[in-house]
Amino acid sequence: MGCKTKTLIVLLIALLIVIYKWWKPTAGGTNPDVLPVVLWHGMGDTCCMPFSLGAIMSLIVEQTKGGYVRSLQIGGNPILDWQSGFFIHPDEQVEWVCQQLLQDERLAKGYNAIGFSQGGQFLRAVAQRCPQPPMRTLISLGGQHQGVFGLPMCPTLSQKSCDYISRLLNSAAYSEEAQHNLVQATYWHDPIMENHYRLGSTFLANINNELYLNTYYVENLQKLKKFVMVMFLNDTIVQPKESQWFQFYTSGQDRIIQPFNESKAYQDLHLDKMESEGKLVFLGIEGDHLAISKEWFIKNIVPLLLEK
Ligand SMILES: *[C@@H]1O[C@H](CO)[C@@H](O)[C@H](O)[C@H]1NC(C)=O
Ligand SMILES: *[C@@H]1O[C@H](CO)[C@@H](O)[C@H](O)[C@H]1NC(C)=O
Repeated sequence: MGCKTKTLIVLLIALLIVIYKWWKPTAGGTNPDVLPVVLWHGMGDTCCMPFSLGAIMSLIVEQTKGGYVRSLQIGGNPILDWQSGFFIHPDEQVEWVCQQLLQDERLAKGYNAIGFSQGGQFLRAVAQRCPQPPMRTLISLGGQHQGVFGLPMCPTLSQKSCDYISRLLNSAAYSEEAQHNLVQATYWHDPIMENHYRLGSTFLANINNELYLNTYYVENLQKLKKFVMVMFLNDTIVQPKESQWFQFYTSGQDRIIQPFNESKAYQDLHLDKMESEGKLVFLGIEGDHLAISKEWFIKNIVPLLLEK
């Protein structure tokens, strides 16, 4: 074995030890007076990287003086957790998460939830499908509630895989193969062929009541105390960025955004009712996708977590 190889192996082992030490899907828990917080990571990320959600977990524990935080590790291990962001159907993920939340006794009296990017719409599905344990406030950081029409980048995936995914989405997003194997296809929203989306999207069209009006979803969503949607005003990843505020293109074209209150989903999920009750909160933040500063988080998100 060459000297270089040996060094590489030693470094790799050191890295694994560091990650293992940091890798904790739960944190805090000594302050019973603050509601637990559940996090769901975005595409290309995992529950617990120290420079990503791990840092957010520490920040929340610090700011809530020991509140319990659980960052969802989909599938129960780091590899599956990463893969889930691309390749495990959201229905399967949501179902698994619902079971996990139900089994976590600390969450029994309710919890607040923060979704990062696609984790935002996945947590909304949890709110709509799994009323127990009760979700109180849902905070969506850059979630795509009306889907996306474009995928300019795939973080932590090779260029070749990313190109393949983009081609598949653009040519055959609603094929059985894509819907079954590719998470991003399940919230691909083609405004030019709106009917293909309604009939073909196996996740987003379902939770947005596009095809069937599921009153169970409506009832459960209304149980939220607040639904906070954060849009990154200079987002270069989510197309259109307005999807982060539950808006989308007017059908038939991909330039003009339809007024929020005129969309079908707005009516079919009774967001009008939530809006009139002051439950919908729209926040905008300057910067690119998920570019959140510690200061902004402390000023805008932490107070929501401390509400009684
Ligand atoms: C970000 O977007 C906002 C709103 O569209 C705009 O006012 C601002 O100038 C943009 N900032 C940058 C750095 O592009
Ligand atoms: C949407 O809101 C605008 C401005 O608040 C209002 O003028 C319009 O009538 C509303 N449309 C519907 C369908 O409620």
